[in-house]
Amino acid sequence: MKKWLLAAAAGAVLLAGPSAAQQPIVIKFSHVVAEKTPKGQAALKFKEEAEKLLPGKVKVEVYPSSQLFGDAKEMEAIALGDVQMIAPSLSKFDKFTKKIQVFDLPFLFNDTDAIDRFQESAAGKDLLKSMESKGLLGLAFWHNGLKQISANKPLLVPEDAKGLKFRIQASDILAAQFQALGATPQKLAFSEVYQALQTGTVDGQENTWSNIYSQKFHEAQKHITESNHGALDYMVVVNAKWWNGLPQDVRDGLTKAMTIATKTNNDIAERLNKEALEKIKASGTTTVHVLTPAQRAQWQKAMKPVWDKFEGQIGKDLIDAALKSNSAKTN
Ligand code: LMR
Repeated sequence: MKKWLLAAAAGAVLLAGPSAAQQPIVIKFSHVVAEKTPKGQAALKFKEEAEKLLPGKVKVEVYPSSQLFGDAKEMEAIALGDVQMIAPSLSKFDKFTKKIQVFDLPFLFNDTDAIDRFQESAAGKDLLKSMESKGLLGLAFWHNGLKQISANKPLLVPEDAKGLKFRIQASDILAAQFQALGATPQKLAFSEVYQALQTGTVDGQENTWSNIYSQKFHEAQKHITESNHGALDYMVVVNAKWWNGLPQDVRDGLTKAMTIATKTNNDIAERLNKEALEKIKASGTTTVHVLTPAQRAQWQKAMKPVWDKFEGQIGKDLIDAALKSNSAKTN
């Protein structure tokens, strides 16, 4: 009798059909960095929180290290609905909007606190929505940190970079930045950088300490200069149509999970970068150079023409708003 009852109950569930409400919504979150980086950790935190807040309703699958899609492909994949969430570096959106290029202007931000203030300002928040007409909606900014520059020779003054080929992310501003130094920029997907450095396809690169360490770039580069010359942050984006089609409670839960993951990311980013720097120094494979204020001023001067070149595309107002964030009192 009992068995019969159980079977009837199971049958009733089956008859009710595979109701959409009972199938968790699968969210594929693809990114290109290692798990032990700010973005890698934050993506896992997002999964943990989303599944805790929406039990049985969502399942978040995180794919790190370009496992599922690399740089260019992930943009395509989100448009096609093959992934639901990605968090590319801000340098990689220039096909969608010229405004986000503001983050690539060399020596714009004094430190990550300034970047944070800008992202929290009205002008910064507007950027999250700046690609909606192209089908992409930004949910949050995530920090990585400031970029350092490396090669197989010491890079102490801008002339040292002359004639070298540098790997860059897919950004025209970053291309112009290296051209201003008399160097050759080469756009390459993140997953291809280590090999390009090792085989000599490129002579140098720029990235944050956590990316340099987790990708072992320091094993293929004899010298790294702590230049802090540019920002490398992310925007977590979703396919706007997919997001707007989610049930309200799911959207609310995911928004909450994103807020928590963003805080985690921004709390650990600086520490992970500092730890990576220490590990690179301890590895003994590379010499880390610190610029004197006079040397730093030379790099700033050499890269400054890039600002004028792109002011028209980005907009002076936006550049001014970003500059204002260097002062703690604004915003
Ligand atoms: C890069 O391509 O160097 C970075 O955008 C990788 C990343 O996502 O941090």
